[in-house]
Amino acid sequence: MYKSALFLFVGSWVTISSFQLLDKSFAIGKSILLAVSEETNCTAQFSCLDCKTARICKPDGSGNFQQVMTIPCPKEKPYCTAETGTCSDLPDDSCRTSDASFVCMDDGYFPDANCTDYHVCVGLQAYKFHCSVEGEYFNAKKNKCASNSYCDTYTNCTMAGVKVAHQVYPQYFGYCSSPGSPAVIDKCKGPNELNETSQRCEAICHQVGLLEDTSNCTKYFKCHELIFTDGSSAPTVILVKDHLSCPENTAFVPDQSMCIDIKETNCNPS
Ligand SMILES: *[C@@H]1O[C@H](CO)[C@@H](O)[C@H](O)[C@H]1NC(C)=O
Ligand SMILES: *[C@@H]1O[C@H](CO)[C@@H](O)[C@H](O)[C@H]1NC(C)=O
Ligand SMILES: *[C@@H]1O[C@H](CO)[C@@H](O)[C@H](O)[C@H]1NC(C)=O
Ligand SMILES: *[C@@H]1O[C@H](CO)[C@@H](O)[C@H](O)[C@H]1NC(C)=O
Ligand SMILES: *[C@@H]1O[C@H](CO)[C@@H](O)[C@H](O)[C@H]1NC(C)=O
Repeated sequence: MYKSALFLFVGSWVTISSFQLLDKSFAIGKSILLAVSEETNCTAQFSCLDCKTARICKPDGSGNFQQVMTIPCPKEKPYCTAETGTCSDLPDDSCRTSDASFVCMDDGYFPDANCTDYHVCVGLQAYKFHCSVEGEYFNAKKNKCASNSYCDTYTNCTMAGVKVAHQVYPQYFGYCSSPGSPAVIDKCKGPNELNETSQRCEAICHQVGLLEDTSNCTKYFKCHELIFTDGSSAPTVILVKDHLSCPENTAFVPDQSMCIDIKETNCNPS
């Protein structure tokens, strides 16, 4: 029941109830806000079908309305005003067309299967963005479109019923309902990444250092190097992950990468 109206919304902030969409990159020409609106029934004679389309409806005699026609707003007056059902040169505040096709599992930024697209969830409502500068792809570390020649996303999505990690940003994963693009895109907690073998989000060592244990704030993982040598060949260095507990009455703080007095943290260990 979704209308596949695609639209472009530039030059104005989108306010969603008390939330403010923080991504303003579309205002500086870096991206385009795309949205797919949900089809709604007529409730008045003059209204908007979506931000860029006005519509006229007639009473059907039983208290409801029937759509007579839709009028795409012209270039000079591109935005439909909900209250009057007419086209205007300024976007309407009620123009909060969300992307009904993206499932928000959490608030934040989510890379799409297409490198040039991404989704922003605010109050669990999705907004879809497209990088508008040629050669720019969504960078999930910077949460914006940035120049990059390398494009790879959820290419391991070749089977239904499995999770696959994003090839470049493995903190993000897709749940595949059929081969191709994932049906749902989500993010692991904290620094965790999807391990495609175990199908779980886990702390994965890439370099020497400490990683939080997202399931227990009094614990952490230590990634360190272990050097082997059998005397005959060059030493082999491997990264090892140890699961450790903070000293009593302390908790691990990822920002500081250490265990501090538990009373100075939000950690509730029980
Ligand atoms: C629109 O009206 C039809 C027929 O009355 C109804 O079946 C449908 O559920 C309504 N859709 C919405 C989104 O309210
Ligand atoms: C990604 O999106 C662009 C613009 O909408 C489109 O031209 C391109 O074909 C898409 N690529 C894929 C792999 O879907
Ligand atoms: C995708 O699958 C290939 C082959 O099985 C594997 O080498 C690669 O690590 C996988 N990608 C991710 C991000 O796990
Ligand atoms: C991924 O999970 C498998 C199976 O549990 C485990 O053997 C492997 O070490 C994990 N990979 C990493 C990088 O932690
Ligand atoms: C966290 O780890 C500590 C130390 O091993 C343990 O006592 C505590 O029960 C754990 N808490 C949770 C929520 O698992």
